[in-house]
Amino acid sequence: MFPKTHEKKAYVREKFSRVTRRYDLVNTLGSLSLDHWWRYEAVRELARYPGPILDLCAGTLTLSKEIVRQRPRLVLALDICFDMLSYGVYRLRNHPALSFIRPVCGDGEKIPFPANYFWGETVAFGVRNLAHLEKGLSEMFRVLKPGGKVVILEFSRPQAPIFAPVYRFYLNNVLSRLGGWLTGDQEAYRYLARSIAAFPSPEEFVSLMEKTGFRSVSYRPLTLGVVTIYTGLK
Ligand SMILES: C[S@@+](CC[C@H](N)C(=O)[O-])C[C@H]1O[C@@H](n2cnc3c(N)ncnc32)[C@H](O)[C@@H]1O
Repeated sequence: MFPKTHEKKAYVREKFSRVTRRYDLVNTLGSLSLDHWWRYEAVRELARYPGPILDLCAGTLTLSKEIVRQRPRLVLALDICFDMLSYGVYRLRNHPALSFIRPVCGDGEKIPFPANYFWGETVAFGVRNLAHLEKGLSEMFRVLKPGGKVVILEFSRPQAPIFAPVYRFYLNNVLSRLGGWLTGDQEAYRYLARSIAAFPSPEEFVSLMEKTGFRSVSYRPLTLGVVTIYTGLK
């Protein structure tokens, strides 16, 4: 099933709660470890930006940790799923990066921070999960300082003639089984495939960002368009 807009928030929180412990393992196996490189490339976009940085939809803090690794600075890691955040804190309990990261359980559609607060914002594989995408984008715009930069890493749909159908088959038949097998929740990985199919195209998403108010918006596909990095300034 694919959740209706009004059910999506609760559905997504419950799904991530169920897959928490194996979430990162499925990512790494399912992407042949490319997810580390994708996050590295996304965070590099913020090389010039000091803290505080907002890592929205932070999950198990994988991207927050990369932000600190590339440049130690304060990261506020916001996620609606308490289990994802607390497992992330548990995993990093002996890691020096944790002293730079403040996990906050809250809703990205109602960000619990004042306007013009962050120098940079990241969202990795998160915007697709928002129930109200426009609301999330306008909240991200509100809390960013003028001159600040947003970086969004999200799955997209490859278009290359031979690769596109092979990847679709992989997503719908292989990854959903692998995810189901490792987490015990195949439905969560069917949702992943459907949410990728339902997400706007890069051109549509760029125009949504521009409509929100971001300027100098651009995008860069990686791995033949399996993922895309979007950036914009306030
Ligand atoms: C696919 S995970 C991404 C985690 C992490 N950013 C990463 O790179 O692995 C998506 C996360 O978005 C969170 N999420 C979904 N809707 C949200 C919302 N409205 N506000 C905050 N977090 C949300 C989920 O709880 C989940 O942890």
